[in-house]
Amino acid sequence: MLLGEALHRWTACLGMSSTGVCQLEWGDGAVLLGLLLGAVLAAFAGRKLVIALVTLRAMAWTPTLARRLSKWVKSRAYSDEDFFQADGAEGHWIELRKKAIDRLADLFQAQYTKSIAWGNEIRESFSDLRFTDANRVPFPFVRFIREKFNLCSVVTASDGPKLRDLDDHWTLDVSGSYGVNVAGFERYKEWIQRGWERVKDLGPVLGPLHPVVADNIALLKYISKKDEVSFHMSGTEAVMAAVRLARFNTRKKLIVCFSGSYHGWWDGVQPGLVLLC
Ligand SMILES: Cc1ncc(COP(=O)(O)O)c(C=O)c1O
Repeated sequence: MLLGEALHRWTACLGMSSTGVCQLEWGDGAVLLGLLLGAVLAAFAGRKLVIALVTLRAMAWTPTLARRLSKWVKSRAYSDEDFFQADGAEGHWIELRKKAIDRLADLFQAQYTKSIAWGNEIRESFSDLRFTDANRVPFPFVRFIREKFNLCSVVTASDGPKLRDLDDHWTLDVSGSYGVNVAGFERYKEWIQRGWERVKDLGPVLGPLHPVVADNIALLKYISKKDEVSFHMSGTEAVMAAVRLARFNTRKKLIVCFSGSYHGWWDGVQPGLVLLC
């Protein structure tokens, strides 16, 4: 009603109505403000809706649904008994498993005392360690495994494919280092040594460039078949810069993120997130 009356009076003032009387009232300001606010909100919601519709087919629903479901579905941990019969095993197999787990736990306790003590000392001050520890084991098994095993992989030397831990055991490295292992630990040690020989007179100076940078640029251009090179301190920064450059140059804000991939700590490309704008 109020809006109808106000519109009637305003159209008269604009000369668009012959029946109305041009008369502005105090409440008109509030009505106008409300209209403006409504228009801004509608434009905002409309834009969101258009983006949602355009990107609907590229949307990964699993992370969104998982986030919603996580409010109702809580993680559960197997009891000690359930742990051993999670696959339906019975009788003497359970006894055998119990003995094997105890034997393994005792072995680690006895042979990895320094590594375990080192891990205990840093765990509370080092969030990354707790973070990677959190999802190593499927969640129903975590409680039991954590209580039985308190391991920390801390190494002091490498030799070919082998690593030496703090307790002086040499073991085959089968866990990760996929970037480093492209050429093997020995080659990298050699390259680091040769690199250091070339720049040791300068040391870690920030800002001015060492002449060796020109060689690196030429090599990177050759390998990548690109026209230019940009250096970054970390993969995370490189990804942030690449996304920003792509957005600026294409004038397109949306990027596609493949669920399950890892591109560093920037939340713009965290795995599980879908399309961003
Ligand atoms: C494809 C990819 N992008 C980005 C990163 C992040 O690199 P950084 O840990 O140096 O920030 C990684 C690291 O594993 C990666 O594999």
